[in-house]
Order: sequence, then structure tokens, then C-alpha cells
Amino acid sequence: MSLDRIQVLKFGSSVLPSAAHLHVAVHEIYRHLRVGKKVIAVTSAIGDTTDRLLKQARVIAKQQNEEAIAELLATGEAEAVALLKLALAKAGIAANALSAHNLGLQTDGPLLDANPVQLDLQPLLQKLQQRSVLIVPGFVGKHADDRLSLLGRGGSDLTALVIAQALKHGNPQSPTCRLLKDVAGLYEWDPAADGPPPRRFSSIGFEEATAVGGAVLQPKAVQYAQRQQLNFELGQCSSTVTTLVGQVGTELENSAPTSAPLKVALIGLGTVGHGVYSLLGKHADKFELVQVVVANPHKPRDLNPPCSILKNELDLSAQPDVIIEVAGCSAHLSETLLQALALGIPVLTADKELVANQLNALAPYLNSRTPILRCSAAVAGIVPALEGVGRIAAVDGVQQLQGVLNGTSNFILQQMADGHSFHQALQQAQELGYAESDPSADIYGWDAARKLSLLIHRAWGVQLPPERIPSQGIAALTSTEVGPNLRLVAKAYRHADGRISASVQPTELPKDHVLLQANGVGNAVLIEDSLLQSHLLLGDGAGRWPTAEAVFADLLDVWRLHAKSDFAATLPTSKPSAECLAREASA
Ligand code: HSE
Repeated sequence: MSLDRIQVLKFGSSVLPSAAHLHVAVHEIYRHLRVGKKVIAVTSAIGDTTDRLLKQARVIAKQQNEEAIAELLATGEAEAVALLKLALAKAGIAANALSAHNLGLQTDGPLLDANPVQLDLQPLLQKLQQRSVLIVPGFVGKHADDRLSLLGRGGSDLTALVIAQALKHGNPQSPTCRLLKDVAGLYEWDPAADGPPPRRFSSIGFEEATAVGGAVLQPKAVQYAQRQQLNFELGQCSSTVTTLVGQVGTELENSAPTSAPLKVALIGLGTVGHGVYSLLGKHADKFELVQVVVANPHKPRDLNPPCSILKNELDLSAQPDVIIEVAGCSAHLSETLLQALALGIPVLTADKELVANQLNALAPYLNSRTPILRCSAAVAGIVPALEGVGRIAAVDGVQQLQGVLNGTSNFILQQMADGHSFHQALQQAQELGYAESDPSADIYGWDAARKLSLLIHRAWGVQLPPERIPSQGIAALTSTEVGPNLRLVAKAYRHADGRISASVQPTELPKDHVLLQANGVGNAVLIEDSLLQSHLLLGDGAGRWPTAEAVFADLLDVWRLHAKSDFAATLPTSKPSAECLAREASA
């Protein structure tokens, strides 16, 4: 595993004041997965858990037993690890976790203010090999006699830096470690204090960081980084800016103005629309919902957007800054969406039928470095399939693609292999919100063919319409033909002369084939590059939250571009180029 592809992210209690804020950490982790990183997420205890536990301990005994206190407080981080794993699973991202005992961060010194001595990377790397996200508890170490120890207040910062340092050891290229806080970086003075707004350090040396960062950074962690000459970043989730701390010159930047929220028009309030609507509600600082378009505004529904914004047609005169289309069957909308794109309004869609069938007209909007048509959620749900294929195409070139791209079919096949009937399984997939509004597209292989068509376009720039991809679905299979190793496999291969062969068909896979890791609603994409190296991407391919999370990731990219250009507009000179903005938005 290439160590420089590992991103260490540390989520402090200020970022996770309660379990209701875990979605913020999920967005941030997914942001890094989308650019091809593996993530080690270090978590502090949620909110005031540590103080609450300490208080409890004092009620029991005034005289504190250090060993018991360390064990008690460690439960706060253990709880946060498990909750974050749950939140990621909800979004369809499978993560591994390590307990404080298994992490093996060896310490010495005072039990409640211990110092790191050594970290064995092997358990971490082994877990990261299996899954792209590993969650570990911050703050907690282990003395040589196996007693749990604590790294002192704010000690999760130190945990993250110790891990980053161990990774750096394996690879001289510095890995990225980002400490996520509730501030966008280090400032000249407290931004919450009265008086003129302070400037933010875009970079700062260790000494100065120790002087100004006391309230935000654990001083012991900064001293550790200084001894190790380890650079790291500090910033906010979803943000475009950070402070780089380390062997760097000190530079100050004017604080970015708070950008006005982006005005969002949401088309569709079904399974996925409901998810996107809920996420938008949690980010009112960034997004203002100005229109919700549904076929029947009067239909009773679980969600009740204000009547004033509920419409049955997209109205561009409301001047949305961005349009999210998750209606499922939006062919009739294509003209309005094309009109919006022509006006330069970004459109985000989960509709693979729309994009695959209209690729010719839409390609110009998909292709630029800052595409205004984004459709990550259209292919394989939470799996960053288009992003992965695009990245590999740009670096080494893609030779071959194989994928399990239809969650409904995969779910049905697995249910049938477990003895259920096709019809029972299909009904369940519909109830769980996996199937298309007309499930024919799932069970006849058309949905997989549409997704394959989009992957082919991203890999080779070739427009191969779905109807030209020979496709056989799972509808005709009988129970006796379905075993545990059968998958609906979509495949595409580029011949030496540039021709593309593609197909979708049920395929019996050898028992150790990596695509068998796609279970239930899981999707998998296996990319072989032109150096014949294989790259596997996994995650849930359908359902409310995985799809909504993928749509939201596109939306946050658009927001970062918007915030970045607002910031650039305040600078006296040198507006960043579009290329620079694109890089920022994807990092
Ligand atoms: N019906 C699709 C599937 C939804 O089951 O994969 C996600 O595109």
C-alpha cells in the first residue's frame, strides 16, 4: 500500500459536539475517499463526554485511582469510534476500527499524561488493506505493562500526529495529517473576541503555533511535531482553507468572508430526495433551499417543505445557484436542465438514464475541469466510481473495467442464493428503496448498462450508448441457477485498436474473485490500468443514504468552488485560475 495515499484526519470534540453531528465527519472522510485516499480517522470523545465521566468518577471517590480513571475515560473514545463506524455504515461506507488495546500505541510516563514511545503500524496497515477507512480512538495509549494510559487533555491531536509520524517513517514523503476543529485554522487572536477580525495564518512555524494555538492545539502535540519535524494542517470540516503548521515560513491571509448560502433547487422528494433534503437542513449555513419540485405538491408525505417553495415545475426565474435532480425519471426535465446548464447553473443528478441517454448533449458540461454537470451518485451509489476511473484514466490510462453496478440485482441474487424467491426479494428491494421506480431497469440489466456507459465515457472519452451494450439481466434466472458466487457483472475492455467491447451479464465468479466482496446492496468496481495494476472500489450501490451522501459530496464540491471564488474576490491581486479552483475543490 502506498503510504502517501493515506490521509490522517482527527475529529475533535468541538467538531462532534453530539452524535447528531457525525454526518459532518462522514462528509469529510468521504471527501478524501473520492480523491483516492485511504483514511485513518482519529476520534476524540463526543462533546463533553470526558468531563461527564470525570464528574461521575468524583462522585464515587475523591481519591482517584489513575488506572481506573484511564479505563473510564477511554470508554468515551471507544464510544465515538463505534458511533462513527455506524454513521459511515449508514452512508454505505464500510470501515474497520481498532480498540485502544489493539492500536498498540505504546506510552510511558504519568498514566494520565503519558508520552508516546512507539507505534506498530502493522495492525493499522492490515486493517486499511481490507477497507479504505480505519477508525481509531485518540487520547488513549498503553503502557508496557498493558495498562491503558491517557495522553493528557487534547491528546487526540497527539495520537493523530504519532500515526502520521509512523507513516512518514515508512515513506519519506510527508503524509497528510489534518486536525479538524471548529475554526478554519490558527488566527492572530481569538476570532470570537471583540474588535477587528484577525487574519488567519495560512502557514506558521512550530514556535509561533505553540504561542498562538494554546486553546486550539494541544501544546504537547505541537512540541512532539516539532521534535519530529512533522508538518500538519489544522482546519474545519468541508473547508477550502487550513493552516499549515511546521517547518514553514509564517504567512497570514485575510479571513475569508462568510459566503452567502447557495440557493438550491431540489427536484424529487422520493427515497433519495428525502435524504438530500435532510442533509440540506443540517447545513443551513451553506445552503438555502429555494425550491422543491415534485410531481404532486399536494400529496401527503413524511417531509413537509414550506408550501411557498413546493412546486410542480422547475422555475429558473427563482435563480437557483445549483439544481439537484433526484427525481428518478427525469427524461421530461432534460430540456429545462439543459437550459439551466446553458445558463451556467450547476446541475447535480443521480439519474444515470438521463445522462447516459443524452450523453451527446451533456458531454460538454461533464468534461471540463470544473464540470457544471456532476453525476457521482448516478454510478454505484457511494462508491466513487466515476472519480476513480477518471483519476486512473488521467494517470496511467484504463485498460479494463469490471463491476457489480446494480444493487437491486445483487441484493436479489443474494436473497435467492439464501433460498428466497425472486419475487419476494424484488419486493424487499423495492421496500428498502434500492430499486428504480420501474424495476425493469434493474432486473433486465439496463440500469447496469447505463452506468457502464458512463464509466466507459469517463475512462476513454467514448460515447457508447447503453442500448449498444449487450445486456442480460437476472429476471430469467431460476433459483437453481443462483449460487453464492453469481453476480451481475458489467464489463468493458479496450482493444489495441481503440475499439471498446462491453457487456452486462450474470457471471459465475471464481470463489476468490474480488467482485464477490460486493454483498447485498453492495457495488464493486475493479479497474485495471494500462500497467495492468488492479484497483478495487467498494461500497453500497443504492438506497437513500449512500446515494444522498454521493449527491451531497458533489454539492460540497460546488460550495467549495463558490466559497473559494468569493474569497478570491476579496484579494487585491492574482485570482486563482479555474484549474487551481478545480484542484482545491477536489482536495
Ligand atoms: N436501482 C439502482 C440499483 C439504484 O439498484 O443499483 C442505484 O443506482
